[in-house]
Amino acid sequence: MGNTIQHTKWLGKESYHYELIDSTNRKAKELVAEGCTHGTLVTADAQNAGVGRRGRSWSSEPGSGIYMTMVLKPMDLAVDKASMLTLVAAVAVAKAIAKFTESKNLLPQIKWPNDIVLRGKKVCGILTELVLQGQQMDGIIVGIGINVHNTCFPEELAQTATSIEWELKQTSDVTKCSDDEMRTEKKVTREELLAHVLQEFEAQYELFMQTQDLSQIAEAYQQMSANIGREVTVLDPQGAYDGIARGITNTGELIVETGAQTKWVSAGEVSVRGIYGYV
Ligand code: BTN
Repeated sequence: MGNTIQHTKWLGKESYHYELIDSTNRKAKELVAEGCTHGTLVTADAQNAGVGRRGRSWSSEPGSGIYMTMVLKPMDLAVDKASMLTLVAAVAVAKAIAKFTESKNLLPQIKWPNDIVLRGKKVCGILTELVLQGQQMDGIIVGIGINVHNTCFPEELAQTATSIEWELKQTSDVTKCSDDEMRTEKKVTREELLAHVLQEFEAQYELFMQTQDLSQIAEAYQQMSANIGREVTVLDPQGAYDGIARGITNTGELIVETGAQTKWVSAGEVSVRGIYGYV
């Protein structure tokens, strides 16, 4: 994982790799404080204190997944626009995963705002954090965890989490018909997947920065959405409600139709579930 094949212009040119670290997001914040460059990349083979959204932990077994954090320093971006980068990253990761799965008709989907799922189970989580110095933005860190080779998960995740290799294997078991076909199957490796994530992220980020909104990305996002056109339960702390997800706005809100009303749902404290389960 240390020697990533890189075809990027600026992303990952300054990079740090660790066999074991507490959290690549924590390390990235430290590097921001030390003045690292825009595009700095932190990766690890394992984390022993990986952080997830809403204060959860992120299971980070050695060699099973990609644990990475990118540092961005878009100094002309208003602080309130930074959260959109999490949707930008979701599109990039979904496109990168598709490179390994689409030939098997296995298409990654995005569960709003930024979980990537395969067959309805989560393979990737993204945690974007602002690094502030007083009121001033010092940097934005985008942490990405991708389950690549995992074959088992802690009990509490077993119903909702999976890995790319596991899902590819389920597909092969159903479709394989000859030894030749097995030999030509494209195996997913962490090195190659990381290289695709970096390339895709760099491209999507540049599109995002041209308009500083999702206008050039929303279509790709919506095409890969697991929610749009389906019934969702919006878990709003003020009270949960059901509706049909219709799309996203150019600033990343989920558009939900609830009978007579159309609501724009912002991420933050709110999450969505499919009415029958996780997606
Ligand atoms: C989520 O809860 O869905 C977001 C999970 C983000 C996990 C990644 S793993 C690499 C980076 N370092 C961390 O400590 N967290 C993020």
